[in-house]
Amino acid sequence: MKNEKAFIFDLDGVIVDTAKYHYLAWKNLANSLGFDFTEEQNEQLKGVSRVKSLEILLGVGKVNLSEEKKEALLKEKNKEYLAYVNTMTSAEILPGVNKLLQFLEANKIKFALGSASKNAPLILEKVGLLKRFHAIVDGNDVTKAKPDPEVFLIGAKKLNTAPENCIVVEDAIAGIQAANSAKMTSIGIGDKTVLSEADYVFESMNEITSDFLQNLIN
Ligand code: BG6
Ligand code: MG
Repeated sequence: MKNEKAFIFDLDGVIVDTAKYHYLAWKNLANSLGFDFTEEQNEQLKGVSRVKSLEILLGVGKVNLSEEKKEALLKEKNKEYLAYVNTMTSAEILPGVNKLLQFLEANKIKFALGSASKNAPLILEKVGLLKRFHAIVDGNDVTKAKPDPEVFLIGAKKLNTAPENCIVVEDAIAGIQAANSAKMTSIGIGDKTVLSEADYVFESMNEITSDFLQNLIN
């Protein structure tokens, strides 16, 4: 029904902390090209597509490469990242996620994934959450990256509800901006000062209470 509330979750940094694996793989790549890549610099890659991430990384190292070489590096980086992903289990689901999903299921609220990652279905499968999502929108489905609202608008369509009824949970500024321009309610997970554009901010998913959720869906 078009007027039903629904949730759309980002993946990396909201459902699971895969940012650490992305970082390890990007850092190794930088090192192999002869420069270092700090955790602070890695912040710029959060929520950003794989191709754009490489551009930022090469910018940090002031390295110019052919398109062919870049393609090869993207493959190499993803191969290493997937080696980490393949070790993942449900133990890596972030605190508070299961409680929130259980609340939504008990209240018959549908939820989708809205992620920039092309590896999203595999990651959800590894942590045992894939079947619980009513729809998946990932990096293979979108042509325009966050902060463009495309990923979340497709999510609303797949959940058969209007964007205004959707509540987005995100840890990246670009994701909050995407939700806001889709006219959705935005919940930021992380630092209040960083995610100041969000309608609501919580330090972690664990801090979202049932009372808050109840008010949101009523
Ligand atoms: C986002 C991450 O969810 O997915 C980014 O926040 C990542 O750091 C992007 O670059 C693309 O991921 P993947 O798995 O397709 O390389
Ligand atoms: Mg994220």
